[in-house]
Amino acid sequence: MIKNGPYLALDTSYQKLSVDELLETAGKRLPEHFDDYRRQLCRGEYRNLSEDRPVTHVLSRSVHAVAKQSNRKTRFVDTVQKLRSGRWLGSTGKPITDVVNIGVGGSDLGPQMGAFALKEFADDAALHGLQVHFVSSMDGGQLYAVLPIVDPETTLFIVSSKSFGTVDTFANVDTVRKWIEPDLTQEQWLAKHVIGVSANAQGMTDYGIPPAQQFTFGQGVGGRFSLWSALGLSIALTTGIRPFERMLEGAKAMDEHFLDAPLADNLPVLLALYGVYNREQLGINNLAILPYDGRLRMLPNYLQQLDMESNGKQYTAENEAIDYPTGPIIWGGFGPNGQHAFFQHLHQGYDQFTADFVTVLKREAPGFSDATRSGLAEQQRLAVANCLAHRRLMWDGSENADSPSDHYPGGHPSNLLIMDDLTPESFGALIAAYEHKVFTQGVIWGLNSFDQPGVEKGKKIAMDVLRVLDGESDETFDDSTDAIIKRMR
Ligand code: F6P
Repeated sequence: MIKNGPYLALDTSYQKLSVDELLETAGKRLPEHFDDYRRQLCRGEYRNLSEDRPVTHVLSRSVHAVAKQSNRKTRFVDTVQKLRSGRWLGSTGKPITDVVNIGVGGSDLGPQMGAFALKEFADDAALHGLQVHFVSSMDGGQLYAVLPIVDPETTLFIVSSKSFGTVDTFANVDTVRKWIEPDLTQEQWLAKHVIGVSANAQGMTDYGIPPAQQFTFGQGVGGRFSLWSALGLSIALTTGIRPFERMLEGAKAMDEHFLDAPLADNLPVLLALYGVYNREQLGINNLAILPYDGRLRMLPNYLQQLDMESNGKQYTAENEAIDYPTGPIIWGGFGPNGQHAFFQHLHQGYDQFTADFVTVLKREAPGFSDATRSGLAEQQRLAVANCLAHRRLMWDGSENADSPSDHYPGGHPSNLLIMDDLTPESFGALIAAYEHKVFTQGVIWGLNSFDQPGVEKGKKIAMDVLRVLDGESDETFDDSTDAIIKRMR
């Protein structure tokens, strides 16, 4: 059964229930006030109770649209154009050629995924060859790879951090500030080589980032929902403004669909309800995300944060214990490569799983010769054929009574998300559909999908351990941790 939404379609034929049966069963799990909740979400009025703030990421798709309608040239647009056209000069007078986004979690995954997926839509008219790089990990491994290929005098760093206090990000920035010397002074670096993007304007000011190089977004925009906001700067720097706006428009179209489409045709609601049914009734604890287009290869990593950080919880929005299963483990990988890695287990292993396959049916390849284009079109068809074939085998299975090695149990439910083309609009719609799916499931499970106390707790313990490693505390933890600390010291 294929349901069509804006820029995206969903085939649910390989689920255990028809849509009608689903609405009759899992559909009953939708709370009475679901209509009110989704309306509140889309108006920026839904409350994140534990952090006592509204949830406003959906509004960030319209803010840019409003700016566009009134033809206001925002500072965001101006900055993007200046950097992309080579008019942004570093402190020694040379044009900026490289931008490095430093951020982690939502301040990395969304922007990196978007920049990677939409690179080919770059509006090249003004482009002088700006390279955009991403650094997230606290261990310095990524920085180690980027620093040798960029030049302090021609590189600008975007410090992306909603809180402007994440230790991972500032560990990287601190190292950058050592690396720029002797080419630049600290003042020269702050004056022209850094932009801050955060919900914490005071934090950026205290850090010394000039006001003209600060971009803010609202506290109500959760980190994992922030690629639509100013936090998407590195996407816009990769593509130019128009493709970035088109991404927002695609997301907005999905918002409207989520609000208005009947439940039986509502893509995010169907994704959510099948997920709830598979989790609760079939007892399957995981969902594999399997994109079949290389441009979407970061989707599993992105959805891991979006879903698991939002709904991996055992407490309600009112802080009462939950005794039923909630969000599944999200994992996966780029489908065509996964076939040669983990698909064997999916076809013949012991474990239950569900999967979302994502396929792109056509691909234009402007700029190539006719012969190369026909080769690329053939490759696209090959990828689609493989996607359909593996999905079918995982569902239907295949029997050979004489040979266990030729037996494929099947029975693994999956969705197929279909994009006719990958465009900024369809990409925006895909991501918004998943956001609304996660929201709907959170509402069904009575969760607050917008906090993450488990992660905050881990960060606190890490600081306690670091103090011991730095010789500033004698705290002890457990035999294993204490032994490793001793070995390191
Ligand atoms: O991992 C916890 C978390 O708070 C995420 O929710 C967030 O995306 C990430 O850390 C980075 O936080 P910030 O953008 O504040 O640096």
